[in-house]
Amino acid sequence: MSWKDRFAVAWTRASGAPEKLADMVLTETELRVTFSDPARRSGIPGLSMLHDMSGDSILVYPRNGSRVLPPQLRALLPPDAALNPQRRMLLDLMLASGRSITGLPTELQQWEMLVFAGRNAVGHIDVFENDRDAQDYYTRNYGSVQPEGRSGLKDLKLWGAFRKYVSQSLPTVEEDQLKATLGPTPGVAGFVPKMLCTIELESDGSWKGKTSGKPAGEEGGQDTVSALVKIEQNSYPGLLQLESLAYEYHRKAGIFDVPRTWLLETTVNNEPLIALASERFDRNQGVPLPLESMYSILHTGSPTKYLCNTDGSIEKIGEVLNKLRFPYGEVERFYAQFVMSLLTGNGDLHTDNIAILTDPNKHGMNRYRLSPLFDPAPMRAYRGRHSHNVLSALPFGGGEPTDTTGSATPGDLFDRMMSVAKAMGIKHTRAKGLAKQLHQVTEPYLQEAIELLRSIPKDRRPNNLAPDIDGFEATIQEVRSAIARGWSGHASKSPPTPSLMFSNKQN
Ligand SMILES: Nc1ncnc2c1ncn2[C@@H]1O[C@H](COP(=O)(O)OP(=O)(O)OP(=O)(O)O)[C@@H](O)[C@H]1O
Ligand SMILES: [Mg+2]
Repeated sequence: MSWKDRFAVAWTRASGAPEKLADMVLTETELRVTFSDPARRSGIPGLSMLHDMSGDSILVYPRNGSRVLPPQLRALLPPDAALNPQRRMLLDLMLASGRSITGLPTELQQWEMLVFAGRNAVGHIDVFENDRDAQDYYTRNYGSVQPEGRSGLKDLKLWGAFRKYVSQSLPTVEEDQLKATLGPTPGVAGFVPKMLCTIELESDGSWKGKTSGKPAGEEGGQDTVSALVKIEQNSYPGLLQLESLAYEYHRKAGIFDVPRTWLLETTVNNEPLIALASERFDRNQGVPLPLESMYSILHTGSPTKYLCNTDGSIEKIGEVLNKLRFPYGEVERFYAQFVMSLLTGNGDLHTDNIAILTDPNKHGMNRYRLSPLFDPAPMRAYRGRHSHNVLSALPFGGGEPTDTTGSATPGDLFDRMMSVAKAMGIKHTRAKGLAKQLHQVTEPYLQEAIELLRSIPKDRRPNNLAPDIDGFEATIQEVRSAIARGWSGHASKSPPTPSLMFSNKQN
């Protein structure tokens, strides 16, 4: 079959008003992006901070098998997993509008999804098939006319329906209502089912599940908040409660920028509903702020070297931040985030969970900073599953004798942490002090996490899905004692405890 080039355009509202960013063409060999001259002249953030710094007007992303979209465009789509709820919804909506993509090669499916719904997602990039569609969209959604959809299901009814949709048990009539309510919602990366929407708080600042009916990203007053809401799936009982606890401990540490979060634990039609909302930091009174993952930055810098979000290392990220002349405080904050990820059993600090937020109103390097914290989910509580029991998603401190991306806690963990700090330009005494401080802050964390997991009713954690509470406890204690041994000067080079040496990567 002969190849037919595909065209699309990128626009943004990052300056407060819609502006065209670029023309895009997908050829048989590459994705070519040509920036519009006015956008280049105005200095509005484009597709990647590295490109903005270089000032290039034309970017070329070579196609690599089924990888056609660079990470920053891929981030506008739901994950590829067939059962992912956002993906299912998008495919159904495309089918209903006569744009079925069944049977197309993966890369073209992604392209079609991008032009169908790749807008008003996380960050500032909006993609359309052509300029007229873009103008129509902005007039419809941000002009005088009320946005389509969004008027159907509300509040707990919406969450109840979404939860059922996630577990594929929603009756067809309600499914139609849900789709009419949500419309072609943008995709949000990550494996947990989630939705971007505006939530409404109670007068005491709590969230009882109310939604405001406004489009995602539009704020309507003091009590409405643009949020990213995750819904608990049956297969990960307790995950959102644990994530909420991890957020709390990051707040307690006092050195992180942590968004407001609200945990909702309730029932809808006698079935449990657990949701975690976090305030969107990529919106400022409805205006999008560019948010680019570290994966996207690494990939943009070396497209053939960084092909997934576990390529690279903790040191590499420090190196990037230093090379780009991020203030020292930001580098130190990233180091502290890494230490917290070890102490909380997160194991999931990959390059899609680290991002740079841009303030388009500032200039030079002042416009960039590490984004507020997100996704501190303690995945090691689900040790029995594929890739959920790794000490660190990214390697650090040298790979021998134990790979730090396995499940074992190296006896010399502390030394490795110190070598990471050194590579980042953090003084030994400061790195040690931070490790000690965060060790102390997280002292009660393990007990709270265990109690939380044990309090989940047994019927929500059947044997095959239950978190591995004992394993989680053992692994966090291992980490804690390795760090404590280190700062007291008794770091050991001995091999890790044999019982903890299995790696989930094989499971
Ligand atoms: N509060 C927030 N404001 C703006 N964007 C956010 C916020 N929280 C998360 N994001 C964005 O949404 C994406 C998905 O969120 P998150 O990483 O929490 O999901 P996840 O499904 O747990 O991911 P993973 O697959 O890494 O486990 C993030 O990569 C980030 O770009
Ligand atoms: Mg994530």
